[in-house]
Amino acid sequence: MDFTGKVAVVTGASSGIGLAAAKMLSKHGAYVISLARDEGNLRKSIDSIEADVRKNITGIATDVRDEASVKQAIEQTVSMYGQIDILINAAGVSMPGKQLLQEIELKQWQRIMETNLTGTFLMSREALLRMNERNSGYIINILSTAAFQAGGGDSIYSASKYGARALTESMISASRRSGVRVSSISPGAVDTNIWSHKLEPVSQESRDTMLKPGDIADIILFLLTRPRAVHIDNITVTSWDR
Ligand SMILES: NC(=O)c1ccc[n+]([C@@H]2O[C@H](COP(=O)([O-])OP(=O)(O)OC[C@H]3O[C@@H](n4cnc5c(N)ncnc54)[C@H](OP(=O)(O)O)[C@@H]3O)[C@@H](O)[C@H]2O)c1
Repeated sequence: MDFTGKVAVVTGASSGIGLAAAKMLSKHGAYVISLARDEGNLRKSIDSIEADVRKNITGIATDVRDEASVKQAIEQTVSMYGQIDILINAAGVSMPGKQLLQEIELKQWQRIMETNLTGTFLMSREALLRMNERNSGYIINILSTAAFQAGGGDSIYSASKYGARALTESMISASRRSGVRVSSISPGAVDTNIWSHKLEPVSQESRDTMLKPGDIADIILFLLTRPRAVHIDNITVTSWDR
């Protein structure tokens, strides 16, 4: 597949699924705008990519929770390339471990809801404004199996992902049969840095059984390359080995 001339914005692109998506898109010829908060990590992650793949990747330090920061990133993208063809909403944070509702502080709730839900809203809104002008584009939201099933200790994370799923379904209904397409991918455990922030360390043995970020990038590629008439709401993917 050749994405030459296409412009892709990827959030959470300094690590894990977002980084794998940015690499895949650039490898297939797209101009990629990679977003994450920490500029140093973003730079390092782009520098870690083979030179011929990273040449079309631009990093912009962006906080998806912050309206002004999101608008600035989208405006910079449009002033560089004139359009946005693809948005991958992969920025996300999880809980430090299983926690009962009564143990959760408001600031934890806000951090997760603002990143996973408000961030998806702000990025999608700004991208949709540009995509609707050209009646063309594709938004892919990275949800989770937690968007379909909430465990007792996963309350905030699941609430944020159920919310992002509702947002995705609403965006699909609103843009049905238009030139702008929307889908989601809902993975089970994927071996990324998200597991390095847990209070209880996750064993290598457990990580070895997880999906890899490249598996999710492959599914993004699959969605982006379906024929125009084929719509897929969501792909749920889990590891056969867990
Ligand atoms: N890994 C899994 O098992 C798994 C399973 C299902 C779904 N998911 C979902 O997949 C997505 C990607 O997760 P991952 O596993 O790839 O995580 P990761 O390796 O921890 O990467 C998270 C990325 O999001 C960025 N980020 C966090 N907060 C941000 C903010 N406010 N603004 C902009 N960027 C922000 C991080 O960079 P900065 O910290 O520098 O901002 C980083 O680039 C998340 O939505 C996650 O919920 C993951």
